[in-house]
Amino acid sequence: MCRIVGASRTLLPLLAALLQASVEASGEIALCKTGFPEDVYSAVLSQDVHEGQPLLNVKFSNCNGKRKVQYESSEPADFKVDEDGMVYAVRSFPLSSEHAKFLIYAQDKETQEKWQVAVKLSLKPTFPEDSVKESQEIEEIVFPRQVSKHNGHLQRQKRDWVIPPINLPENSRGPFPQELVRIRSDRDKNLSLRYSVTGPGADQPPTGIFIINPISGQLSVTKPLDRELIARFHLRAHAVDINGNQVENPIDIVINVIDMNDNRPEFLHQVWNGTVPEGSKPGTYVMTVTAIDADDPNALNGMLRYRILSQAPSTPSPNMFTINNETGDIITVAAGLDREKVQQYTLIIQATDMEGNPTYGLSNTATAVITVTDVNDNPPEFTAMTFYGEVPENRVDVIVANLTVTDKDQPHTPAWNAVYRISGGDPTGRFAIQTDPNSNDGLVTVVKPIDFETNRMFVLTVAAENQVPLAKGIQHPPQSTATVSVTVIDVNENPYFAPNPKIIRQEEGLHAGTMLTTFTAQDPDRYMQQNIRYTKLSDPANWLKIDPVNGQITTIAVLDRESPNVKNNIYNATFLASDNGIPPMSGTGTLQIYLLDINDNAPQVLPQEAETCETPDPNSINITALDYDIDPNAGPFAFDLPLSPVTIKRNWTITRLNGDFAQLNLKIKFLEAGIYEVPIIITDSGNPPKSNISILRVKVCQCDSNGDCTDVDRIVGAGLGTGAIIAILLCIIILLILVLMFVVWMKRRDKERQAKQLLIDPEDDVRDNILKYDEEGGGEEDQLLPSVTSSSARLLSLGFFRRGPAPLALRRIHIPEL
Ligand SMILES: *[C@@H]1O[C@H](CO)[C@@H](O)[C@H](O)[C@H]1NC(C)=O
Ligand SMILES: *[C@@H]1O[C@H](CO)[C@@H](O)[C@H](O)[C@H]1NC(C)=O
Ligand SMILES: *[C@@H]1O[C@H](CO)[C@@H](O)[C@H](O)[C@H]1NC(C)=O
Ligand SMILES: *[C@@H]1O[C@H](CO)[C@@H](O)[C@H](O)[C@H]1NC(C)=O
Ligand SMILES: *[C@@H]1O[C@H](CO)[C@@H](O)[C@H](O)[C@H]1NC(C)=O
Ligand SMILES: *[C@@H]1O[C@H](CO)[C@@H](O)[C@H](O)[C@H]1NC(C)=O
Ligand SMILES: *[C@@H]1O[C@H](CO)[C@@H](O)[C@H](O)[C@H]1NC(C)=O
Ligand SMILES: *[C@@H]1O[C@H](CO)[C@@H](O)[C@H](O)[C@H]1NC(C)=O
Repeated sequence: MCRIVGASRTLLPLLAALLQASVEASGEIALCKTGFPEDVYSAVLSQDVHEGQPLLNVKFSNCNGKRKVQYESSEPADFKVDEDGMVYAVRSFPLSSEHAKFLIYAQDKETQEKWQVAVKLSLKPTFPEDSVKESQEIEEIVFPRQVSKHNGHLQRQKRDWVIPPINLPENSRGPFPQELVRIRSDRDKNLSLRYSVTGPGADQPPTGIFIINPISGQLSVTKPLDRELIARFHLRAHAVDINGNQVENPIDIVINVIDMNDNRPEFLHQVWNGTVPEGSKPGTYVMTVTAIDADDPNALNGMLRYRILSQAPSTPSPNMFTINNETGDIITVAAGLDREKVQQYTLIIQATDMEGNPTYGLSNTATAVITVTDVNDNPPEFTAMTFYGEVPENRVDVIVANLTVTDKDQPHTPAWNAVYRISGGDPTGRFAIQTDPNSNDGLVTVVKPIDFETNRMFVLTVAAENQVPLAKGIQHPPQSTATVSVTVIDVNENPYFAPNPKIIRQEEGLHAGTMLTTFTAQDPDRYMQQNIRYTKLSDPANWLKIDPVNGQITTIAVLDRESPNVKNNIYNATFLASDNGIPPMSGTGTLQIYLLDINDNAPQVLPQEAETCETPDPNSINITALDYDIDPNAGPFAFDLPLSPVTIKRNWTITRLNGDFAQLNLKIKFLEAGIYEVPIIITDSGNPPKSNISILRVKVCQCDSNGDCTDVDRIVGAGLGTGAIIAILLCIIILLILVLMFVVWMKRRDKERQAKQLLIDPEDDVRDNILKYDEEGGGEEDQLLPSVTSSSARLLSLGFFRRGPAPLALRRIHIPEL
């Protein structure tokens, strides 16, 4: 911008004005700004001001250099400014606060434009020795003296030469480069030396923070330092002659960056969460909050103190909590934490450095949210003294009453959930109380059926508690107990037969119309006026009827122990009793009749068919008797042959083997083969005995020496099973088909022969064929292995295809050995 001068005379003032405006608006130094670069200059003096003392230079920035400004002081009696901007003291005086501040004006001699700047003078605080040096009195660090050793080499003294560290405050405002110290060697008197520094901050990153004038040895810092970045620099100073030869052993220079309070404390969290149980005693630890400060924790700059700025809500007291100002522990200081009143406190906490100095310290705030947790300090209380309920008799799992309680503790926690107990009025344990988990209500239910006729009313005493015991010192109030009045409702119950089943003993053979017994039911509804009517439900043999009014059971048929409806002598019949209540109820009862046997069945011969040989030896027929009655109305039996017809006793004889068995034998020497019906009289042992004549069909046959029947012919076709007959029939049909095929074949052959011999003698041939056919069909009956055609003829002769009645043939019967 400064170089634009001389371009256009008309443009210049406009540009200057624009520049001025932009600079003023931004308030920052742009490329160049005419005026004082700072608003306020400060100077720190070591002692009182004496006459003519140069104090400081107010450097007026004159961009084009052509401006002529004249300086003026607001206190011309005390301070004056020379043309270069140097401020001098006019007189000697002790520095006091009234002289600490004055203004310097600068006025353009041509344009009369005027600037001003404030100057502040302050006394240097009595800092320790190693504080900032004034520019005039720069400390020297001399390379340590060297001692000659025996062999003539120069050696630096070790350890006993300690160079004190240079202390340099961080964030210095300059001006830079700022001189720190002068490094010098004794040998610069004879030699021209060059000085240099090495190490991090000089020639190693971060480079260029420290520079040294190679000739004068002046060590300077070029920019403000940040202790929080690098707290200490280790440099090494070297001295060489102009030829580059090392003339001194390097020395170590330590630069400590002195902390300034340039960092605020920072809380680790912006919101801190803590809990404390309600009712906690003062002094209960709640939580710890922590802030950190990047400044030197060993200096005031990093020493934090905590405090509570505010508490919301401020009930029951505005100071419920306190904070340990060093550790950040928050503890309770007042009693009266009650979750039911205040569930959460919000504290604004502050951390301040400089040991909490409110004037110089930097602060930050955070929030501590303290939730008051529930303890069981409220018992459940019934909403009524007495609850009422009704229950029908004989019902279970019905809700009788609904007990409601209130509990101020946090819902759905063990401190709120209610547990109910029946403490009286239910000695038989007919009721139970469950808790409805949603509403906390107590549901009284019936667990054992109640009989109205026994209990018409219950008065229960119930108590409610929480799942966890009440907090110490809190008692259950009377409202934790209540009364439940339960009314039992009468309902129509089933009539019932007693005893059920009813068992009676009765002899069989009882004639119809006999009164057997009375089978009645009772109605438990003693307090209802009801009639019972009876009907028959099941009576498999239809032997019984019941009087609908009085329950008398009468037979309508003869009772028979031998009936298939009787098992193990017992006959079952069921009856229904119904009352006339609303709704009508009914019950069933079973009558079991144990039937006693009488001798009502005559014995029969067993088996009913037998086989024996034509001669008495070696076979005989074993027979026994079947009697449906049971002992003593069955065996032992007496077997006998009837007197008529006379031939029976002549031909046969019967021999008793024991009480159950007898043998039938031929009495005559020979009886022609055939079927004989032999009547046998069998008498049982009943009182009176029963006897009957039963017919035994005996097949007499020719026997071989083993006593087996030999007359196969007679058995075939008559005594065979249906399967065998079908098989034989199939064989016959196949044979017939073969015969037919043979006949057809023969006829065809004849025709061919006829056709061949037609020229010779047709008539002879025909006759010949017929003759042959007759011969074959006629077959010999006596042949041992008959041809196909002859065997079919034989079958025909056996009568299979006969029209007349078939010859009687009997199956051979084996009597099992009994
Ligand atoms: C350097 O100066 C010292 C005295 O200051 C003198 O003794 C010495 O001889 C001189 N050395 C040289 C090389 O000039
Ligand atoms: C405290 O709780 C709030 C809200 O739930 C959450 O945002 C915050 O991170 C919590 N603070 C801590 C330190 O856990
Ligand atoms: C910190 O607490 C201690 C003792 O509790 C007290 O003596 C000191 O004054 C407190 N400091 C601040 C800055 O509140
Ligand atoms: C119990 O009573 C309450 C209020 O009287 C009602 O809200 C609730 O539904 C009832 N519970 C049952 C199981 O009847
Ligand atoms: C009769 O009832 C009894 C007992 O229920 C049973 O054991 C028996 O088999 C029944 N008799 C008949 C014949 O059903
Ligand atoms: C008894 O035997 C004779 C032959 O001896 C016979 O003719 C008669 O039919 C037989 N009677 C009976 C019933 O067996
Ligand atoms: C005796 O037997 C005959 C035939 O076997 C039979 O018809 C009759 O009913 C029987 N009599 C008795 C009393 O069992
Ligand atoms: C008949 O019974 C007797 C005696 O029980 C026995 O020895 C005999 O073998 C039986 N005969 C037949 C054919 O079962």
